[in-house]
Amino acid sequence: MSLSVVILAAGKGTRMRSSLPKVLHPIADKPMVSHVIDAARYLNADNIYLVYGFGGEVLKAQLSKGNSGEELTFVEQKEQLGTGHAVDMASPLLKDDENVLVLYGDVPLTKVSTLESLLAVKPDNGMALLTVHLADPTGYGRIVRAENGEEVSQVVGIVEQKDANAEQLKINECNTGILLANGGDLKRWLANLSNENAQGEYYLTDIIAACHSEGKEIATTHPETEVEVEGANNRVQLAALERAFQLREAEVLMLAGASLRDPSRIDIRGRIAVGQEVQIDVNCIFEGEVVLANGVQVGANSILKDCTIGENTIIKPNSMIEGAVIGDDCSVGPFARIRPDTTMNNNSHVGNFVEMKKSTLGEGSKSGHLTYLGDTTIGKNVNIGAGTITCNYDGINKSRTIIDDNAFIGSNSSLVAPVFIGATSTIGAGSVISKDVEKEELAVARGKQRNVKGWKRPTKKS
Ligand code: UD1
Ligand code: CA
Repeated sequence: MSLSVVILAAGKGTRMRSSLPKVLHPIADKPMVSHVIDAARYLNADNIYLVYGFGGEVLKAQLSKGNSGEELTFVEQKEQLGTGHAVDMASPLLKDDENVLVLYGDVPLTKVSTLESLLAVKPDNGMALLTVHLADPTGYGRIVRAENGEEVSQVVGIVEQKDANAEQLKINECNTGILLANGGDLKRWLANLSNENAQGEYYLTDIIAACHSEGKEIATTHPETEVEVEGANNRVQLAALERAFQLREAEVLMLAGASLRDPSRIDIRGRIAVGQEVQIDVNCIFEGEVVLANGVQVGANSILKDCTIGENTIIKPNSMIEGAVIGDDCSVGPFARIRPDTTMNNNSHVGNFVEMKKSTLGEGSKSGHLTYLGDTTIGKNVNIGAGTITCNYDGINKSRTIIDDNAFIGSNSSLVAPVFIGATSTIGAGSVISKDVEKEELAVARGKQRNVKGWKRPTKKS
């Protein structure tokens, strides 16, 4: 049977106090609704229908960005007449003989395993409902079960908070809103909804009573944790979901073999793969795709984006690495900045206040302090002295610097690109090198020292 997922996202989200549609507010740098769409994709949904009301253009632009999924279809709900009306907007697109799963664009943390269990419990000829027992059920629709004395008796309906009587308000089994039904049944039930209730809305929840009255079974299952079914209506709730998401990510990392100094002080805004014996200190941020091989250590306050770090490499505190490949047994930082298209080969070392961009540092080479290496290719066992600057930009064009194996660049040198520094050559400290240096040469390019005997410092004028 095919699976279609209908995601409700037409609410205005006034309490966000934002011009951005609510469901585009991010969790871990990704819109809430994208988390929901991704869950639907993990379930191999054949179709995903996104019911929107406001900000259609922004939604379409944001959600088709970098998305290959042709299965995502936008369905407009012009007026927000209730959750039942919202799902009904997708009715013309739903097939009779398919499973239809209803999800919510502002409920981003539902686990795929929970949705799979919902699919598993659904009777062929009935529906499945995700319910949750809450200590404080205020505001939620309550699950009404038959009174036949059995421990877990049949669900017969859902009553909304505003329509419930005193007895029903005591029920603490709540409707999460997430449900699964046959397409044909769903369309028939939705077509017959009425809005004669306390809120004058077409309630999706009324389909439960309709299902029961046809003698069909309503199976239930529950999420592992409440956070899976929590929505974000304002930025306080959004921040709470962000923390819950981050803790979940941290736990995945720890179970994969990483030690986190404090699992509540890490931010993962993308995907991170870790080997064993990885150690991550506090306040690190990981973005995009990050790979940390066995034995990598990441120091406090480091930011790593789209990079691969080789075995036993140590990233010291306060380093920023983006778009780089760093080999095995390297060290980086503290306070290093490694920018895109940089490669550090095995056993190389970059120290404090060193910036690299579009550059390669060969095996065993070192740049310990206060240096800019841009558009530079550096061979093996090269030593770059403190304060070396590659002058890669003439104001119009960028040019490359090539430094061959075993070269020694004296401190405070400027290498004016394009320039070639040959193997085993030496650059005297403080040189401005604008001409190529052949292998094994010494190049010194600086003003000559002059010592003046008996020179007097100026004195203060009275
Ligand atoms: C709904 C359920 C309630 C459940 C609760 C869980 C109904 C009638 N009630 O109540 O049983 O306990 O969710 O949070 O379904 N939406 C639209 N179009 C509309 C109306 C709503 O897209 O016309 C979307 C909203 O953007 C929101 C979701 O549906 O994401 C739920 O709507 P909301 O009005 O918040 O329902 P609740 O009153 O919370
Ligand atoms: Ca709600």
